[in-house]
Amino acid sequence: MEVELRRITDENRTDVLAVAVAPDQERFVGTVAGALREAAEYPEAKPWARAVFADGQAVGFVMLSWDVVPDPPHIIGPWFLWKLLIDHRHQRRGLGGEVVRLVGDIVRREGAAALLTSYTEGEGDPGPFYEKLGFSPTGDRDDNNEVILALDLVTAPS
Ligand SMILES: CC(C)(COP(=O)(O)OP(=O)(O)OC[C@H]1O[C@@H](n2cnc3c(N)ncnc32)[C@H](O)[C@@H]1OP(=O)(O)O)[C@@H](O)C(=O)NCCC(=O)NCCS
Repeated sequence: MEVELRRITDENRTDVLAVAVAPDQERFVGTVAGALREAAEYPEAKPWARAVFADGQAVGFVMLSWDVVPDPPHIIGPWFLWKLLIDHRHQRRGLGGEVVRLVGDIVRREGAAALLTSYTEGEGDPGPFYEKLGFSPTGDRDDNNEVILALDLVTAPS
């Protein structure tokens, strides 16, 4: 399966906005439309958004804070995985893990030493997903009490 990160354009926007998690997962990540609204609202968080395509089909969405000046606990960075969602019909097929690897490679080439992320704790939260990929809790939390995790990009295999 070929997994690609593509810019969101007028041509693919409708398909990307149709990507959705299961209703009980929305509390962890929301919707693509909501993420794009947040991106527009918080330019200081340096949003970088891409659609995830697998074999030419829109299956997910990823958004980073791109080399942002950290201002914890509000802005975590410099390289922060802000949103990651894989359509519920395409989950558990390795796509989420592949997106994290692709993003890790992209930011490592920009000089990032670590990729940070955070999640809201609860039944079905993505904590085990991130820990399988090599993220570990930093011990800190953000201003929404989300657990902050870091993936070491220097020693982690790509
Ligand atoms: C979390 C998410 C991105 C994972 O995407 P995915 O494509 O299903 O993940 P993968 O198939 O690459 O899974 C990689 C590994 O993590 C495991 N995993 C995935 N989601 C998991 C979960 N919620 N709980 C426990 N393990 C999980 C998979 O079983 C797999 O393990 P394996 O390698 O031993 O088989 C996806 O479930 C999602 O969009 N969830 C809702 C939104 C969300 O929580 N986003 C993250 C916070 S912004």
